[in-house]
Amino acid sequence: MKGLFITLEGGEGAGKSTQSRRLKSALESAGRDVVLTREPGGTPEAEKIRDLLVQRDGGNWTPMAECLLFFAARQMHVETLIKPAIAAGKIVICDRFTDSTIAYQGYGHGFDISTIQQVAKLSLGDFKPDLTFILDLPVADGLARSLKQKDMAGGKENTEDRFKKLKIDFHEKLRQGFLTIAKHEPSRCVVVDAGGSADDVYNVIWTRIQNAL
Ligand code: TYD
Repeated sequence: MKGLFITLEGGEGAGKSTQSRRLKSALESAGRDVVLTREPGGTPEAEKIRDLLVQRDGGNWTPMAECLLFFAARQMHVETLIKPAIAAGKIVICDRFTDSTIAYQGYGHGFDISTIQQVAKLSLGDFKPDLTFILDLPVADGLARSLKQKDMAGGKENTEDRFKKLKIDFHEKLRQGFLTIAKHEPSRCVVVDAGGSADDVYNVIWTRIQNAL
């Protein structure tokens, strides 16, 4: 069987993790070997880099250093886990990939997008996902969802107060960034309306994957 590399992208609260887990079990029920992974991270070395990127307080890295760290982790992840799995005929589902760097560091934080693309080319060559699902949601809905999840996990602060602290502008740039990426690469990227029920979102993704298989 032919391997396949699928990525899920989107902003806060879009439901990537739920969908990727569901997809994994559906594909396994259909008899496929599936590897579920995430970025930044996915291998022991890349997870170490993830700690540097995700757990820092912010502001420690220059934008270029941050970009290089994302791609250092990604290069390890691609060479040691993703490519070997695809070569063995497996389906790799990855929660975030290069599009997240373009959307977050580029469109969101303003780092030069052509520089990110050059670093991508240098570290990964022409390697790209076969199929990318961009889970799209109005910013306010995504942030509300993700705050609700945090509350259920035991958050204390009043939801509304925290909502105001979130940078709505940043998340709007992020959303438009993902939509622009999809517009530039319509054969790879599928924009999915993530505002519907988890079942509706899943059905759209599942139909598209069956076409690709
Ligand atoms: P994570 O807890 O996995 O968030 P999420 O559930 O939203 O995926 O943390 C990953 C964070 O790293 C998330 O805020 C997005 C960010 N990120 C980037 O800024 N650039 C990247 O290239 C990647 C892969 C992630």
